[in-house]
Amino acid sequence: MYDINEIRKDFPILNIQINGKPNTFLDTAASAQKPQCVIDTLVRVYSGTYANVHRGSYYLSEQITGLYEQAREIIKTFINAASSHEIIYTRNATEAFNLIAYSWGRNFLKTGDEVLISEAEHHANLIPWQILRDELGIKLKIFKIANDGSYIEDEYLKLLNEKTKLVSVTAMSNVLGTVFPIKKMVSQAHKVGALFAVDACQYAVHRQIDVQDWDCDFLAFSGHKTYGPSGVGVLYGKMSVLEQMLPYQVGGDMVDTVSFEHTTYALPPSRFEAGTPAIVDAIALGSALKYMMNIGWARLEAHEQDLIVYASQQLQEIAGLKIIGTAPDKGGVFSFDLNGIHAQDVAFILDKEGVSIRTGHHCAEPLVKRMGYNSLARASIGLYTSREDIDRFIQALYKVSSFF
Ligand code: ALA
Repeated sequence: MYDINEIRKDFPILNIQINGKPNTFLDTAASAQKPQCVIDTLVRVYSGTYANVHRGSYYLSEQITGLYEQAREIIKTFINAASSHEIIYTRNATEAFNLIAYSWGRNFLKTGDEVLISEAEHHANLIPWQILRDELGIKLKIFKIANDGSYIEDEYLKLLNEKTKLVSVTAMSNVLGTVFPIKKMVSQAHKVGALFAVDACQYAVHRQIDVQDWDCDFLAFSGHKTYGPSGVGVLYGKMSVLEQMLPYQVGGDMVDTVSFEHTTYALPPSRFEAGTPAIVDAIALGSALKYMMNIGWARLEAHEQDLIVYASQQLQEIAGLKIIGTAPDKGGVFSFDLNGIHAQDVAFILDKEGVSIRTGHHCAEPLVKRMGYNSLARASIGLYTSREDIDRFIQALYKVSSFF
């Protein structure tokens, strides 16, 4: 049984008022609110255990190094990696994709090779490949999705061939909610010898990830979307791939030996973690993921499904409202157009009602344009979203309609 009222008590920010109205937070896809256990971890570690990691042979440094590595173990469990050595802490998912492009792409791609992505990618999974295209002469191929946002297998297979060296696709679109059949796509990519990278930023919030079952070669997600702090993200890489890669950044902590003449690098994951990391944020990310796993995926997914059905039905009843992205089995994001009213105006009025949504191109400008818009309003749900939140959102939308 999912007791939404109990869950909501874990998130102090839900008690504040916005413009004198209940805080109806529907922008979890941009960044999630934090449960008390995450806030407590930050305070507890800074107050009682703080020092740098991996550097000191003294009590505090050993304690915090233990906590930092324990969090890596939690992440390993969260995505079912084979080893915690395959978990690299990054600043965010954007940094993770830059790391793949820099450390793998620059060393393993050559002129004429192809990287294949979908039309539904976030800029973080587009721009790094554009840069490699311009620097190395690789080809960037983009497979089409349907007008309702659905995945089309034929479009993918049409562009997948022996020249494809990497496929890099989101598991769940942050604009449309489309869920891509990653496991099958990975197996098809491996048949032509391509590696597969997964952008799991949205998927990680809503569904259970299993990198061993998917057999993907890379996977990235950001901490702040999975109820953890900002400033920390995760890159998973298969050890057999990571071992062959050179560092992304160089300097502190990522070396084996250094002389004035020569440097050798540490094994993964240290090789890819130059400089003092976001220590306490990483530990608090562990608390966030534990919090999600303690609730349990079956209950998280059932709650989300209930809200998707509940919200979709009511949105469809609003005259002139069009949901952008209606693929079957979509995740909990609702981009929409309301009678052509500018998304900023919609959001402005909603904000007066205490309802927070995102507007704009959602860091996926080509996708928003491909769907026929310059800017979209988007409401997105999290594990703390209630039916009452949806009700207030719908009432506020009726108010917007009445003004135009
Ligand atoms: N990419 C994030 C979003 O979808 C920030 O809002």
